[in-house]
Amino acid sequence: MKHIAWAAFALILGSSAAMADVVKPGDVTFDEGAVPAPLTGQAGVAEEGRKTFISRKLGNCLACHENSEMKLEQFHGEVGPSLDGVADRWNEAELRGIIINSKNTYEGTIMPGFYVGEDFPRTAKQFKGKTILTAQQVEDVVAYLKTLKEQ
Ligand code: HEC
Repeated sequence: MKHIAWAAFALILGSSAAMADVVKPGDVTFDEGAVPAPLTGQAGVAEEGRKTFISRKLGNCLACHENSEMKLEQFHGEVGPSLDGVADRWNEAELRGIIINSKNTYEGTIMPGFYVGEDFPRTAKQFKGKTILTAQQVEDVVAYLKTLKEQ
């Protein structure tokens, strides 16, 4: 029993230490549409970002975007532009800003803000303060997008 209590305690300590260097949605600083500072102290991992991009439960980016690198994947959407060569069009800060809240880049866009914490009056309790992606997932997706260059 004691073991379990200690394990839980260590887990809480560990996660609060990890939380400490995460920028909260309300604290994100935009420079025009761009967000120059990473949201976490841990560099994004492109391979993880690719999974988030495809996952219907997470980014679901593929529902609206395609890119040739994923031609063999399942269904992809054409609501948004193809992301081929997107890293040549936008720098890292701009890409991060588009994922966090694309409305600062494209007014009135249908692309969701993936790291926006505002609570709307009718937000269901379990979604209050929740973002679609975590800070680390945003960094991972940015890392993945940075690999999409025109060859
Ligand atoms: C509901 C559809 C939709 C979803 C889901 C979506 N986007 Fe978009 N996205 C758009 C649209 C539409 C645009 C073009 C901006 C506009 O005109 O509104 C866009 C623009 C972009 C751009 C700039 C493209 C360029 O070529 O300049 C990037 C980068 C981007 N999206 C990445 C993502 C990522 C990463 C995800 C998933 C985390 C995502 N989008 C999810 C619809 C979507």
